[in-house]
Amino acid sequence: MTRVFAPGRVELLGNHTDYNEGVVLSAALDLGIAVNGALSDDGRIVISSEGFAPVEVPAGQALERTGEWSDYALGVVATLRAMGAEVPGFTAQYASTLPAGAGLSSSAAMEVGTAVLLRELLGLSLTPLEVAKLGRRAENEFVGVGCGLLDQVSSVFGRRQHAIYLDCRAETVERIPFPAGVDLLIVQSGVAHALKGGEYDERRAQCFEAARRLGVPALRDVSSAQLAAAALPDLVGRRAAHIVGENERVFAAVEHLRAGDAAAFGRLMTASHESSRRNFENSTPQLDALVEIATAQPGVYGARLTGGGFGGAIVAVVASEALEAARAGILAAYEARTGIATQAIVCHPGDGALADA
Ligand code: GLA
Repeated sequence: MTRVFAPGRVELLGNHTDYNEGVVLSAALDLGIAVNGALSDDGRIVISSEGFAPVEVPAGQALERTGEWSDYALGVVATLRAMGAEVPGFTAQYASTLPAGAGLSSSAAMEVGTAVLLRELLGLSLTPLEVAKLGRRAENEFVGVGCGLLDQVSSVFGRRQHAIYLDCRAETVERIPFPAGVDLLIVQSGVAHALKGGEYDERRAQCFEAARRLGVPALRDVSSAQLAAAALPDLVGRRAAHIVGENERVFAAVEHLRAGDAAAFGRLMTASHESSRRNFENSTPQLDALVEIATAQPGVYGARLTGGGFGGAIVAVVASEALEAARAGILAAYEARTGIATQAIVCHPGDGALADA
């Protein structure tokens, strides 16, 4: 048996920048998906997870999307084959500690877990970046979600007590120490997020349209001063303002992290949420309420929606000594305001599937 652990991720700053060739700060979580697998000689691929019916396909058969959870694993197999690898029969058992639909990338964790497992089992020479790209390609082409590289890179490269700084144009990854005495609190809005809802692809198209109108290859190439001087239509202009602002906030945040300044980092997170709310319109009334409530708690440095948006969770950066009171205060105030009894999880930046690479 070969065992792999691929974590979920939390996006700390840099919302929807990845497919705009921009910059992102994230962390792998200490929650994720464990995969146990082995090659088999009966010519079958058998994928199983507690609480789901096992999925079985003959190893020689062309794979098709089913709309089920197993697509994230089978997509990796199909992509490896498209890259010229032979994938014989194997078994893989998945066990997750990640809440699904919370925007913490359980799908990327499954893709990365499968890719690393097959890399080990088949002795494939794939670099960590190639593993992440394999996962993204499976999601883009097999699952049919046009995501960027953030989720898979975080799950591969995460490192304990470090943030991941990804430059999506240069395709470089840097690990930056996360300040001590600070915890990440992830609070679910209780409204599931669904990337396949079409909104994600719509935003992506609007960003590409903004870049085209500005005459640049990607929004990465625009500063907020240049954007202010350009005359874009209102909607496309606000979408661009979000991406351009996010890139600038990430550049500033990297410096704050290096200086160990959690308070300044937190302020940028809250500004990011405000931009999601006004400009990118990928927030929800519930996420707005959570951010407002969270940032009013003593010891909370900042909070924002995390991931694609349109539901899911917020992430707050909280002084460790204030954590328990903040957690209880947020949950009680949110329930009083919305009637939703939700959950909060305390996370720490954790190791990725290939943390040592
Ligand atoms: C989702 C996508 C990522 C990224 C974020 C938004 O998590 O999978 O690629 O675009 O949304 O930053």
